[in-house]
Amino acid sequence: MASSAVFLLLLLVPLFPVVLAISKFDCNVDLTNSTLLAQKDINSSWVSPSGDFAFGFQQAEPSNDGNMLFLLAIWFDKIPDKTIVWSANGVPTREGSKVKLTKDGGLQLFDHQGNVIWTAATNVTGSESSCAAMLDTGNFVVLNGDSNPTWESFKDPHDTILPGQILGTNQKLWSRLSETNYSDGRFQLRMQDDGNLVLYVVSVPYQVNYGAYWAAGISHANSNPQLTFDESGRYIYVKQGNRNVYNFTQKNMGSKQGFYHMARIDFDGVFRLYNHPRRTGAASDGSCSLSWSVVQHIPDDVCSVIQGNLGSGACGYNSYCSVDANGKPECFCPEGYSPMDRLDIQNGCKPNFPLPNCQEDGWEMNPELIEFKELKNTDWPLGDYDLRTGPELDKETCIQFCLDDCFCAAVVYDGNLCYKKKFPLSNGVKTKNLNRTFLMKSSAEFGMENQVQALVDWAYDCYCKRKLDELVKNDEEAISDMKRVERLVMVAIWCTQEDPSIRPSMRKITQMLEGVLEVSVPPRPSIFSAS
Ligand SMILES: *[C@@H]1O[C@H](CO)[C@@H](O)[C@H](O)[C@H]1NC(C)=O
Ligand SMILES: *[C@@H]1O[C@H](CO)[C@@H](O)[C@H](O)[C@H]1NC(C)=O
Ligand SMILES: *[C@@H]1O[C@H](CO)[C@@H](O)[C@H](O)[C@H]1NC(C)=O
Ligand SMILES: *[C@@H]1O[C@H](CO)[C@@H](O)[C@H](O)[C@H]1NC(C)=O
Ligand SMILES: *[C@@H]1O[C@H](CO)[C@@H](O)[C@H](O)[C@H]1NC(C)=O
Ligand SMILES: *[C@@H]1O[C@H](CO)[C@@H](O)[C@H](O)[C@H]1NC(C)=O
Repeated sequence: MASSAVFLLLLLVPLFPVVLAISKFDCNVDLTNSTLLAQKDINSSWVSPSGDFAFGFQQAEPSNDGNMLFLLAIWFDKIPDKTIVWSANGVPTREGSKVKLTKDGGLQLFDHQGNVIWTAATNVTGSESSCAAMLDTGNFVVLNGDSNPTWESFKDPHDTILPGQILGTNQKLWSRLSETNYSDGRFQLRMQDDGNLVLYVVSVPYQVNYGAYWAAGISHANSNPQLTFDESGRYIYVKQGNRNVYNFTQKNMGSKQGFYHMARIDFDGVFRLYNHPRRTGAASDGSCSLSWSVVQHIPDDVCSVIQGNLGSGACGYNSYCSVDANGKPECFCPEGYSPMDRLDIQNGCKPNFPLPNCQEDGWEMNPELIEFKELKNTDWPLGDYDLRTGPELDKETCIQFCLDDCFCAAVVYDGNLCYKKKFPLSNGVKTKNLNRTFLMKSSAEFGMENQVQALVDWAYDCYCKRKLDELVKNDEEAISDMKRVERLVMVAIWCTQEDPSIRPSMRKITQMLEGVLEVSVPPRPSIFSAS
C-alpha cells in the first residue's frame, strides 16, 4: 500500500510544474461568463485580482446625435480618472454592444446590431475551449484549451506601454488623435529592426510617413532590438539580445510599491514617462487629488524639431507653436486667423478674410484692404518660395513685394534679404532671432463677417460635442442652469439658418424659449455662404 502511494506521488511530482504553469494565469473569465454588454450606469468590466486594472466598456463622450457611446478598453481601475492604457480599435460603440470570448480562444467585439466590428488577432492553435484573465500587470490574456495564450493586450499595444511590457522589433506605439478621440493620430514611436528607436509624424488618415523628429541614435543592429519596460517600473531601455544598448530612463520613476507607471506617446507627439501615487486621498502638498506626473519626456521642444517638408508641423497649418516648461506644445492662431476647430486648437487656423485669388477682379486689387501685421519672434521656417535682395532693401519694400504678388501670404525680412512665403503656412514656431515676420490680414470689413461665422460655428460645435460649458465659461448663473443654456443655443442656431424658410417664426421662437414648445435638433448653419 505504502509503496503504491509513493509510486502515485512520484507520478504526480512531474505534473506540478505543469499545474503551476497553468495557474500562472488564473482565469477570471470562462465560457460561462464570457460576454460583456455595454450598458448605461453599469460597470461592464472584468477586473484584475488586485483591482488595479479592468477590461471592458468604458463610457466615452456621447456622439454628435446624442447617443451614449462606449469604448472597449483596459484602464487603471483604482484611480479616480480611470486612465485608459489600451483600446480595441479606438472607435466607441453604442449601448448594447458586446465583447465575447469565442470557444476557440478568440475575442470579438460586436456593435449594438450584432455586427462584428473588431476581432483580436489571435494565434489560435491547440485544443478548443478557452478562458481569459485580466492580470494585475494590466495585461489581458486569452488562453486556449491547452492554457497557451492566443492573444495578449501587451502584444497589441496602442499608445501606452506598462511595466513588464515589451515593444518588439518593428512594433510601434501610435498616438491617439486628441485627448478624447482614441482613433489613430499623427505620431508614432517605432522600434526599428535597425536597432534605432524613432519618433515619426504620419498623415491622418492615410498614414503617409512625413519623417522622423527624434531618434535615439542607436545603430549596430543585431538580434531583435526590443524596447523594454522593466517590471519594477523604474527603467525603460532598448535591449539587443542580453545587452542593454540604450537607457531611456534618466530620472527617478519612484518605486512600484508607491506608484503606478506608464509610458505613452501622447496626441501632441511627446513621448512621456508618467507615475501616479498608488494611495488615494489628498496629495502631500494639500491639493485635493493625486494625479499623473510627467517624470521624463522626449523631445524637449516638439515645436522646433518637427520641421519636415511635408505636413503642418506640431500644430496645424497657419498656426504657431510654443512649448511650456514641461515640453507641452501650445498652439496659437496669429491675428486675423481663427481656429479651424475651436475645440481642437491643434487642427490649425484659417484666415478671417478671403485669400487673394489672382483674378482681374480679385479683391486684392484694392491694396488698401490689405494690412500686414508684424509678428514678434514668430517664424514659419519653411514655405519660402521667393527671395529678394537689393541695395537699400528695407522693410516697406519687402512688404510691397508681397503686396505686388497675389501668391504671397507673408514675408520675412532679416535686415538684408526678403523671403516670400505662401499658403498654407507650416511649422510655425516661436523663435528668438533678428528675422521680422509680416503676415497678411485684411481690413476689418472682411474680418467682421468671418468672425461672426466663426462664432456661430463655434457655438454649433460646442452644442454638437456637448461642450456648452465652453460657451458660458465664468458665467456662474448660466452654468447653474445648463438645460436652459442648451435650449437658448438651439433656438439661436435655428435663427441663424441660411435658408429663411426653415427659420422658426417669432411666435414659435417665443414658445421655444418659454419651454412650451420642444426645440428639435438644429442643422449646421452657414449664414454667409450665400454672400
Ligand atoms: C467567471 O466564472 C469563473 C468560473 O465559474 C469564476 O471563477 C469567475 O469569478 C467568474 N468571473 C466573473 C467576472 O464573474
Ligand atoms: C462603477 O464603478 C465606480 C468606481 O469603481 C463606482 O464608483 C460606481 O458606483 C460603479 N457603478 C455601478 C453602477 O456599479
Ligand atoms: C502561436 O502559438 C504557438 C504555440 O503556442 C507558438 O509556438 C507560436 O510562436 C505562436 N505564433 C505567434 C505568431 O505568436
Ligand atoms: C475621431 O476623429 C475621427 C477623424 O476626425 C472621426 O472620424 C471620428 O468620428 C472621431 N471619433 C469620435 C468618437 O469623435
Ligand atoms: C544603462 O544603465 C545601467 C545601470 O543602470 C548600466 O549598467 C548600463 O551600462 C547602461 N547602458 C547604457 C547603454 O548606457
Ligand atoms: C530668417 O528667415 C529665413 C526665411 O524663413 C530663414 O531661411 C533664415 O534661416 C532665418 N534666419 C534665422 C537667423 O533664423
